[in-house]
Amino acid sequence: MLATTGSLAPMGAKPVLCVGGLVVDFPLAQGALRAVDGVSYEVMAGETLALVGESGSGKSASVLAAVGLLPAARTAGSVVIDGLDFLHLDPRTRRRQLGRLVAVIFQDPAAALNPVMTVGAQLTEALAVHNPRLGAAALRTRAIELLRQVEVPEPALRFRQYPHQFSGGMAQRAMIAIAIANRPRLLIADEPTTALDVTIQAQLLHLLRQAQIETGAATLLITHDLGVVAELADRVAVMYAGRIVELGTVHDVFARPAHPYTVALLRSLPRVDSDDDLQPIPGTPPDMRRRPPGCAFEPRCFLGRGRTRCQTEPPPLAGAPHRSACHFRNEL
Ligand SMILES: Nc1ncnc2c1ncn2[C@@H]1O[C@H](COP(=O)(O)OP(=O)(O)OP(=O)(O)O)[C@@H](O)[C@H]1O
Ligand code: SF4
Ligand SMILES: [Mg+2]
Repeated sequence: MLATTGSLAPMGAKPVLCVGGLVVDFPLAQGALRAVDGVSYEVMAGETLALVGESGSGKSASVLAAVGLLPAARTAGSVVIDGLDFLHLDPRTRRRQLGRLVAVIFQDPAAALNPVMTVGAQLTEALAVHNPRLGAAALRTRAIELLRQVEVPEPALRFRQYPHQFSGGMAQRAMIAIAIANRPRLLIADEPTTALDVTIQAQLLHLLRQAQIETGAATLLITHDLGVVAELADRVAVMYAGRIVELGTVHDVFARPAHPYTVALLRSLPRVDSDDDLQPIPGTPPDMRRRPPGCAFEPRCFLGRGRTRCQTEPPPLAGAPHRSACHFRNEL
């Protein structure tokens, strides 16, 4: 069995992030592409929710548009972070909250770091924005302490260096340091280790876990790696064609998947605990410009393909606490 972590959320905790009926459209020359089609979820303080699904399923769009990081997108629905109506904040206030309330770690740290500023300057800038009373010496001390915390060797020396002098793994450590600098309430990590080799990945995942425990942040983790989900997440949301099709604890979803797409996804990805042959999911996801009238997974579904109800009636996400959007989950 893959190891799973228990929830870190304290009893009675309030959600830090509350997303309700989120819709994300990208305008096209003609019409629009609906990347996210009515997604709802909550993340508690100290909890990690993983979003998984094939490429293009809307994982990044549903998270990045929610915090205002996709200016090209049109959004509807509600996004409440720590009591703030984030979707309708004016852009200036929202920018100010990014880095304080919300921090984001992207896949490619080289692209996220500014190449013409030292890593130390970027860290102190992040700290200074939200701690205007700290003087230069205190900011420097705090920045070096953060680099030490994310296990960057020789932090005082590294403080003076530029991003190109950092390896990929080291740059990602610096990104984590910047992300946790202001103790955000919500930490978003979009494929944070995908660009790194396997040994560095393991170290960084450990570091991310430590950062989350230390800050107590609610964490949204976007990944295609089910090993990472097992390692880091408490709950998992499986996305298909812009919707959540299954949502539950990592243990429940891995042990008793309640949606045919999740079953297929688990069979298609390598697992450390199994030598079974991998079975790719047949077919391709639907064209997001023309959502089919029934279940979007129907043409690829081993359980529902050809069934009239699946072709005509969109299945709602139902059941609690283990939710699934499938008319025939009882037949699995
Ligand atoms: N800026 C954009 N303009 C137009 N369409 C976009 C834009 N960003 C994403 N999309 C489209 O929205 C859909 C969802 O994309 P998204 O990036 O959320 O997928 P994802 O699940 O994160 O995939 P991946 O695993 O490849 O990162 C896709 O069809 C994608 O082509
Ligand atoms: S609703 Fe039908 S097509 Fe969709 S996942 Fe369930 S069985 Fe398959
Ligand atoms: Mg993505």
